[in-house]
Amino acid sequence: MTAKRIDGKAAAAAIRLRVAEHVAAFEQKAERAPGLATVLVGEDPASAVYVRSKNRATAETGMVSFAHNLPDTTSEDELLQLVLDLNADERVDGILVQLPLPNQIDAARVIATIDPAKDVDGFHAINAGRLATGQDSLVPCTPLGCLYLLRQELGDLTGLDAVVVGRSNIVGKPMALLLLGDNATVTVAHSRTRNLPDVVRRADIVVAAVGRVEMIRGDWIKRGATVIDVGINRIPTDDGKGRLVGDVAYDEAAEVAAAITPVPGGVGPMTIAMLMRNTLVAAHRRAGLPDPEGL
Ligand SMILES: NC(=O)c1ccc[n+]([C@@H]2O[C@H](COP(=O)([O-])OP(=O)(O)OC[C@H]3O[C@@H](n4cnc5c(N)ncnc54)[C@H](OP(=O)(O)O)[C@@H]3O)[C@@H](O)[C@H]2O)c1
Repeated sequence: MTAKRIDGKAAAAAIRLRVAEHVAAFEQKAERAPGLATVLVGEDPASAVYVRSKNRATAETGMVSFAHNLPDTTSEDELLQLVLDLNADERVDGILVQLPLPNQIDAARVIATIDPAKDVDGFHAINAGRLATGQDSLVPCTPLGCLYLLRQELGDLTGLDAVVVGRSNIVGKPMALLLLGDNATVTVAHSRTRNLPDVVRRADIVVAAVGRVEMIRGDWIKRGATVIDVGINRIPTDDGKGRLVGDVAYDEAAEVAAAITPVPGGVGPMTIAMLMRNTLVAAHRRAGLPDPEGL
């Protein structure tokens, strides 16, 4: 069997197009476009690239982008004050503070200061708690993007065995809750899990969010499974540029899986598409409008 390659780029482009259509409709009703504020502290090159793509995607969908680039000497108080200002700014529907933050700033305090209604990353404890209790919430973008891909591939997930490898607050845990919400039978594995290959072998759905180069091998995958690889790991190459690989040994896994996401071009593009979606949803909720349909 050679697995179908799940095209996250195409799926993300389709979602961004749909978001753009809803943005136009929102503007007619609310007499303003949805707005996303991004906050970048310091000059980490990878973070700068991510934030630039987020700002570009925001503008492409017709939303307003408010980019705040602060020096890496910014104090926690200064950043908290900016977040409070953005909370109070009526033009801003979503606030994204790019992580990681410099050492002098406590990321948890910053996240706790963001208005949960504008928390388009879905990291605030209010949103995490609402997701855990099955209430409407803003859901972290990466796992939400994975869920979209899984629904697109498999349709109804009811009763399927899903194994999520990784239990971080931003990927693994919300991923598990989303799968549970779709009636999958969910196992969350982590660094202390015993006999991980056997646990993964049970899965109809494998979501790998570990951050270890090609840790999940082909012989861990059940024949016909659907594999979502969240990992983004840079490995050195002879030309010095490096290359991105996932947490799953793609070529091996593709021999047995039914469908698998590549790295890059799988989950990565979906994360930004979901950020656009979350900003649009936050704008609708703040304006007292029903959630946009089909997203
Ligand atoms: N595509 C995207 O847009 C996107 C977005 C976010 C993250 N990522 C990528 O996804 C990966 C995971 O991100 P994250 O933020 O969730 O990472 P993280 O916070 O470092 O969490 C990694 C998880 O993997 C588990 N783990 C580590 N080694 C393991 C092992 N040998 N066996 C089983 N589990 C193991 C850890 O278990 P313990 O809890 O026991 O330590 C932890 O729960 C990274 O490569 C990251 O770059 C991609």
